[in-house]
Amino acid sequence: MKKNLVLLGPPGAGKGTQAKMLVEKYAIPQISTGDILRKAVAAGTELGKEAKKFMDAGGLVPDDVVIGLVRERLKESDCKDGYILDGFPRTVNQAKSLDDILTKMGDGLTHVVSIEVDEDDLLTRLTGRRTCRECSAMYHITFEAPKKSGVCDKCGGELYQRDDDKEETIKSRLKVYKQQTEPLITYYRGTGLLKTVPGTGGIKDIFSSITKVLE
Ligand code: AP5
Ligand code: MG
Ligand code: ZN
Repeated sequence: MKKNLVLLGPPGAGKGTQAKMLVEKYAIPQISTGDILRKAVAAGTELGKEAKKFMDAGGLVPDDVVIGLVRERLKESDCKDGYILDGFPRTVNQAKSLDDILTKMGDGLTHVVSIEVDEDDLLTRLTGRRTCRECSAMYHITFEAPKKSGVCDKCGGELYQRDDDKEETIKSRLKVYKQQTEPLITYYRGTGLLKTVPGTGGIKDIFSSITKVLE
């Protein structure tokens, strides 16, 4: 069965961690608007310069910008057998636009998986997160520590801390999540697509809960 997925959840819930495992299992691409925006920031493009202001403040990049990015990305051929949207949609307006885009393509979402984690855990996860500059593998200094500090186990690349993973910025991101993104849970419950999965415990256990709701 085709899988057109949305992963919902607060910052640090494990969307990226789980998405990478789903990519392996189902051979469908991960579409992370956060990753796309960070690449644009690193490349210093106009989009990157514009987005950086919002990202550094822990706020959302304007809807029309991210909707445009996703609309183009979904047209690429690797999306024809399904995809994992990670971090999009994040507002009810984005969710409605996504519905329109998919309807026009003769397609639709198959599952929305909401990963639930308590706020205290989110702060610990985000302040300890490290990401590989080369292959974007994710680590945590306590929970998923690399064998050698600062070095990626998979490719030897340098591990870095995201600019928005400072405590103050994390607090803004959590606030923005509550105000603008959490209402999507009700929105998708209404469509009958919503599946909730507890996001605390081992990464592999969470992964099996997710694959269970997808099958
Ligand atoms: P984005 O990159 O999407 O960030 P986010 O939603 O804040 O989520 P994160 O990537 O921080 O968390 P995650 O759920 O992926 O967790 P992860 O797997 O890394 O967005 C960044 C910014 O871009 C936004 O603030 C906004 O400005 C902009 N943006 C992006 N999309 C947008 C949109 N649609 N509209 C407008 N603006 C947009 O895990 C976190 C850590 O926890 C890791 O260290 C990991 O190793 C660890 N971990 C994972 N699972 C577990 C576990 N089970 N137990 C212990 N540790 C764990
Ligand atoms: Mg992420
Ligand atoms: Zn790496």
